[in-house]
Amino acid sequence: MNEKDIIRILVADDEKAIREGCTRVLNSKGFDVLGAENGKIALDILEKDNVSILLLDLKMPILGGEEVLKVTVEKYPDVPVIIITGHGTVDTAVACMKKGAYDFITKPFQIEHFLAIINRAADKRRLEQKAWQLQKENIRNLYDLNLEKSRLKTIINYMANGVIVTNRNMEVVLSNPAIMRLLGLTQQISNPLPANELIEDEALINTLKNILDDDLSDNECISQEIQTRNYYLRAISAPVFGPDSGVVGAVTVLENISAFKQLDQMKSDFVNMVAHELRSPLVSIRQLNSVILEGLAGPLGEKQTEFINRGVKKIDALLALINDLLDVAKIEAGQYVRHFVPTDLRKIIEDTVALLEPRAKKQGINLTFSCEDLKPVHSDPKNMEEIFNNLISNAINYSPDGGDVNVTARNAGDYIEIKVKDTGVGIAPEELPKIFEKFYRVKSPKTRDIMGTGLGLSIVKGVVDAHHGSIDVESVEGKGTTFKILLPVMMES
Ligand SMILES: Nc1ncnc2c1ncn2[C@@H]1O[C@H](COP(=O)(O)OP(=O)(O)OP(=O)(O)O)[C@@H](O)[C@H]1O
Ligand SMILES: [Mg+2]
Repeated sequence: MNEKDIIRILVADDEKAIREGCTRVLNSKGFDVLGAENGKIALDILEKDNVSILLLDLKMPILGGEEVLKVTVEKYPDVPVIIITGHGTVDTAVACMKKGAYDFITKPFQIEHFLAIINRAADKRRLEQKAWQLQKENIRNLYDLNLEKSRLKTIINYMANGVIVTNRNMEVVLSNPAIMRLLGLTQQISNPLPANELIEDEALINTLKNILDDDLSDNECISQEIQTRNYYLRAISAPVFGPDSGVVGAVTVLENISAFKQLDQMKSDFVNMVAHELRSPLVSIRQLNSVILEGLAGPLGEKQTEFINRGVKKIDALLALINDLLDVAKIEAGQYVRHFVPTDLRKIIEDTVALLEPRAKKQGINLTFSCEDLKPVHSDPKNMEEIFNNLISNAINYSPDGGDVNVTARNAGDYIEIKVKDTGVGIAPEELPKIFEKFYRVKSPKTRDIMGTGLGLSIVKGVVDAHHGSIDVESVEGKGTTFKILLPVMMES
């Protein structure tokens, strides 16, 4: 049993028989009992031991019961005092109760009556202890809560990232000092403030509105890039849930990514510059090799022709890579798509399929194309060639064991839908969101030997986006992949 659950009763009586009798009876009921033959000893024990109840005889040598009662009521107000009295001294006992005694019991004791009084006092002690315990816990919880709140406030205030909390009325109810710097504000924000007075970016305002209506789960968030007067920021927004699990607002953390953006730009500029510088001499080398191969620089032996042909292949691969790098740089600069004209996609896809047919055959792949008459789209035909070339090449490349590649195109309302379906190696679900990133290639034993730079799909996505279209991919590992592109049909003027 826990020390604080033990009820310890002090029997202060000069009659040894009473002390022993009480001890026997109370021990048998599970109480801990101490004895004192006079008032002084009783006070000593009260001082040292954790006494729960005091049974107190009034007439004792050295120090009488009334004195002990006085000290106990003053010093140990939680200890109920039960006065032991003879018949003749009941009046005194009543007087003692007025001075703070809890109850009295007359000698000789009737066991049942005696135990009833003791049990009542013990219950009182237990209840008081419980109440005290609860109060302590309550105080502790309040203290912890306050501490947590002030800690959280300090963290939020000293964060380099900006924090904004909005409520259901789209008002800012909490923001930190970093917000002022990131949003270029000079005046202190007074909360609550309509969110659109603080945030100029419409897309972010829409996100905050959508969060209130959407069913985002606990750990879902929305990430977007926004631009302010001075900085590029990444805004990550998530719902704030109330006690009934309903959305009561949104919290947005803003991170300054200007330095990364600058670095990315520098890297793109660098790649662009290097690619340009490499392309010119390579084109010259390629042309000179062609001249040699055509025999214009004198006759070539079999071995010489073979070696120069091999060299030309390598140069072509290098030129393809350089062209891809330049394409990516142009897409990023928004300069890739230039010549929008009414385009018949059927013709372009047909030509691309015909171009890639020999490669497919060589790999034991059955390449088919089926298509109805398509409405024209407004596009740059060169870009269109590029995207179908990339998608169909991928379908062939990533089907190392042969199989089928089916290309289909159809009118789908305001869009043309093109699907490139293969029965190749497939892509794992966790890889799917990454394959459109620049230079990303899936690392797996099956694709290890397939050459590529990971730029194709990022170019495809860039082109599709520039044409206001969309691209989706579905894939099952080991079974195959389907890319679906939607491109808007040309508006009739
Ligand atoms: N049809 C497909 N089946 C399976 N995996 C594919 C398919 N298409 C693309 N992938 C995966 O996506 C990755 C990225 O494709 P992407 O076309 O961008 O680059 P790449 O083919 O590796 O190189 P390149 O720039 O020469 O096209 C590939 O490396 C491959 O892992
Ligand atoms: Mg590719």
